[in-house]
Amino acid sequence: MTTEVLWISAAEISALNIPMQDIMERVEAGFASVGRGETEMPAKIGIHPRENCFIHAMPCYVGGEDLAGIKCISGYPPNPAKGHPYITGLMVLCDPATGLPLAVMDAAWITAWRTGAASGVYARHFGNQDSASVALIGTGVQARTNLLAMKEVFPRLDTVFCQDISDEAMARFINDMQPLLPKAEFVACPDIPAAVGDADVLITCTPIVEAPERPVARSMIKPDCLAIAVDYDAALNADVFAGGHFTCDNFNQYTWTREQGGYFRNGYPGPADIDADMGEICSGAKEGLRAGQRGAVLMGIASHDVMTAALVHEKALAAGIGTEVKL
Ligand SMILES: NC(=O)c1ccc[n+]([C@@H]2O[C@H](COP(=O)([O-])OP(=O)(O)OC[C@H]3O[C@@H](n4cnc5c(N)ncnc54)[C@H](O)[C@@H]3O)[C@@H](O)[C@H]2O)c1
Repeated sequence: MTTEVLWISAAEISALNIPMQDIMERVEAGFASVGRGETEMPAKIGIHPRENCFIHAMPCYVGGEDLAGIKCISGYPPNPAKGHPYITGLMVLCDPATGLPLAVMDAAWITAWRTGAASGVYARHFGNQDSASVALIGTGVQARTNLLAMKEVFPRLDTVFCQDISDEAMARFINDMQPLLPKAEFVACPDIPAAVGDADVLITCTPIVEAPERPVARSMIKPDCLAIAVDYDAALNADVFAGGHFTCDNFNQYTWTREQGGYFRNGYPGPADIDADMGEICSGAKEGLRAGQRGAVLMGIASHDVMTAALVHEKALAAGIGTEVKL
């Protein structure tokens, strides 16, 4: 027997022009499914062939939606200097009835967009609707999709504070993103305090490292700033979360990574300090909070990938995009 698998490249996915709102809806449905206990989603496991580098395996069965898949995703900080992206990988969408692979696709696009979407879903439940400014620390791929998601959530967004160790990366970011938010003022900031001091929303997107410097301290930000770490514990000092409302995307994955993975130590919230995970929020078991000290660590969970890959697969089939290859 031969089986055909649909190969969908990064350029093909990108050409589908899937709106951020559609991805946010799928990511939210995935969160809700996790919250209702319908998914099988072990914490992501990884190998570390080089210092500060990871290759993660992220399987998930989203029961209510009957979708299954697994992502193999690498993060290599030295890659940009070699002309490769920091994040690369493959996503395999499987038929839950037979286990056969249905589609194999680029996972960098999926990772970029579903991660921005997850921040958007968090902000949808926890954001103050009057928020007008966002600070982005680390203006690479993630900063772009996270900003696109904030644009969907905060209609009054008019100021984007940017900070990056590379002036060139910051200039590229502003050049790429200004046309997508034409009315917003983009401010290239010389250092972190200048970037975060007046921000209503703060999102950190720097490389995850084994010995984090955590340069953003609570004293630098507004008391009611909505703080989102996309980069594990690399940028936000533990005091950013201390005493406030703390959310993670998934209780099991956060606590497993804290206990087994070596991240989120030295003052980061422990299991008893987690006020909610996004599964609880999106399934309606707990409610968001729109004022006061609020922060989240959104590590990225495999339900996002399966839900987003299924959306890509549907759109690719409808548009006749992709290449059938034999197994
Ligand atoms: N939570 C998730 O679901 C998820 C998903 C994908 C990526 N990530 C993480 O998001 C982070 C960003 O990924 P990316 O794909 O945008 O990477 P990227 O390489 O495109 O961008 C990272 C940017 O950070 C800048 N930078 C490095 N050190 C810095 C510092 N100390 N201060 C300010 N800027 C600094 C770099 O110059 C670069 O522009 C990584 O940690 C990655 O692992 C998280």
